[in-house]
Amino acid sequence: MAKHDLDPNYLDPNYEPVVNHSDNTSFAHVLQARMQRRTLMKGSVGAALAGVMGMGLAGCSDSDNDDNGSAGGSAQSDTELGFKPVAVSNENRVVVPEGYSAQTFVPWGTPITGDYPEYRPDGTNTGADQENQVGMHHDGLHFFPIDQRAGGNSSTEGLLVMNHEYINQSALHANGPTKAVDNGGVRPVDEVRKEVAAHGVSVIHIKRDSNGTWDVVFGSPFNRRITGNTEMDIRGPARGYSKLVTVYSPTGTETRGTLNNCAMGPTPWGTYLTAEENWHGYFATADAQRPREYERHGVNDNSRYDWELADTDADEYMRFNVSTMGASAAEDYRNEANTYGYMVEIDPFTPESKPQKRTALGRFGHEGVIFAPAKEGEPVVCYSGDDSRFEYIYKFVSSKSYHAATAGGYLLDEGTLYVARFNDDGSGDWLALDLKDAEFASKVSAAQGTMVGDIQFDGFENQADVLVNTRLAADIAGATTMDRPEWGAIDPKTGDVYFTLTNNSNRGKEGYDDVNAANPIVENATGHIIRWTEAGSDHTATSFDWDIFVFAGEQGTETVVDGEAVITLDDTNIFNSPDGLWFDYNGRLWIQTDGSWAPPYENNMMLAANPVTREIKRFFVGPQNCEVTGVVTTPDVKTMFVNIQHPRGNWPDPSEDRPRDATVIVTRDDGGVVGA
Ligand code: FEO
Ligand code: CA
Ligand code: CA
Repeated sequence: MAKHDLDPNYLDPNYEPVVNHSDNTSFAHVLQARMQRRTLMKGSVGAALAGVMGMGLAGCSDSDNDDNGSAGGSAQSDTELGFKPVAVSNENRVVVPEGYSAQTFVPWGTPITGDYPEYRPDGTNTGADQENQVGMHHDGLHFFPIDQRAGGNSSTEGLLVMNHEYINQSALHANGPTKAVDNGGVRPVDEVRKEVAAHGVSVIHIKRDSNGTWDVVFGSPFNRRITGNTEMDIRGPARGYSKLVTVYSPTGTETRGTLNNCAMGPTPWGTYLTAEENWHGYFATADAQRPREYERHGVNDNSRYDWELADTDADEYMRFNVSTMGASAAEDYRNEANTYGYMVEIDPFTPESKPQKRTALGRFGHEGVIFAPAKEGEPVVCYSGDDSRFEYIYKFVSSKSYHAATAGGYLLDEGTLYVARFNDDGSGDWLALDLKDAEFASKVSAAQGTMVGDIQFDGFENQADVLVNTRLAADIAGATTMDRPEWGAIDPKTGDVYFTLTNNSNRGKEGYDDVNAANPIVENATGHIIRWTEAGSDHTATSFDWDIFVFAGEQGTETVVDGEAVITLDDTNIFNSPDGLWFDYNGRLWIQTDGSWAPPYENNMMLAANPVTREIKRFFVGPQNCEVTGVVTTPDVKTMFVNIQHPRGNWPDPSEDRPRDATVIVTRDDGGVVGA
């Protein structure tokens, strides 16, 4: 496996400067960003650090601070930001602070399974090769210590599990994709096979040697590729529901593949949930009358990659045509797209395990999931955002209680799915999407026979129907439309929940929802981060108090609370379109961006924030055209893994002529805690 040191002096010879076409002014943005007086956040919870990963992390904050000679002692010292911020950058390389190093790791095409087919830089790897290689478009990722199941917290060996959200077709194939329109209406089957295989999830067993170099453990039984074609079970209330019946699974209990996996969440029992985000674009239907399950998500007559036009009769590809063709649902794939839109549980420690689609967490454009710290004998709680303009934030509370000794995915199959309403006075409510809930049931009755958005609502036949139509249920419940909810993160010290709202170009425009207190910017171009405290600091509560943590934007953008600017952005921390969000095990908040590469922000980046003081500093800038998509560290917070998606030119290897998505390993040259 090739690893490439990043040369800080390297400039891409293909580099072309970005021209700023934006006309937004700092002053206007300040006015838009000013908030009305609102309820301040309530006091902190003091949730234990242990339990963040479902295991003990004792010693990982205090002792590390001492190791680094930072000013330890006070409760908030380990969230201070000790590094010198980096400037914005438009270079085709990664930028990290002085005293830090960055190295690329496991780029697209790295062999990890089977006969370990070598990556071919000319793009001629086959579909079968890709099934044994790391996929494309690295996104959310997590590091599972190799000894986690035994209660350990190794920071030198583990399973790096990552999503591959989508693909760059031009880079994937030797000469770009063969389009059906240029090829008699079909696509070469091996191109389709390769594209399906470049999606999904990689489980990569990695180990650090005594020199500090990380490498893939070749031949490890844990190494695994899960693709857009891997067999999966349907679990939870929608299992066996008639709207999930296909010729592949007449009982509606199984499907194949997971697609457009954006972010993720590790569970308290050491498994990985991968999110299906923009899955709707992979299917095509010729049906003139499309069911509401498709209408509300935009499944239409056009698929993104034309997989249903693969030059074969094999139904693993024909299934992407979700038109009505047979006499019944059990004879065609009209329902195939109803088997997508879920959180999918993968057990990385059990390579032969079948992934499980957890329908109780709802069906929508799942960005990711974040679990509240699990407490013995109490329900499991997790949060998930639906990343689309004017969609919602959800919370799942399990019916069964968590017990560390017996916890497992079954906890995610029964429970209540709630959707958030952010009231203008700074309070909020969780609205149950459950036909057994009297308030929801009465709203459903009242909506019967009316138009809900563009959909003529004719009721829900059961709770499975509610979950398959989660967005419609949330519309009826009266949830607050948000500015594209992306990742969530939970402060390990306070239990406060943070969510990125990346942007919403249509907010407040004619014909669209007006601004509200939680989404107060007209045509929100640069996004913001919201946070809340659950009532009584109890994650199962049905109400909360919310606040805006920060508005993203240009120099001078203020976040005003009670008439006072609590943070004013400057050269050290301007950012645009927050997306990835993660609290490390010491309580620093990491913010990643998915903006448009224009000045003054330039390339996408990652910043660190102190949640106590709201200080924010730019820590990392990615190469050109990329999105900085995922972040995690080892338990000791001394090795950080950052994912880079859709780079351009020949990043990371200037000797090659196509870009490769890759993980970047960031370490401190003195071996200290990253960010401290
Ligand atoms: Fe895949 Fe919402 O970012
Ligand atoms: Ca994202
Ligand atoms: Ca995004």
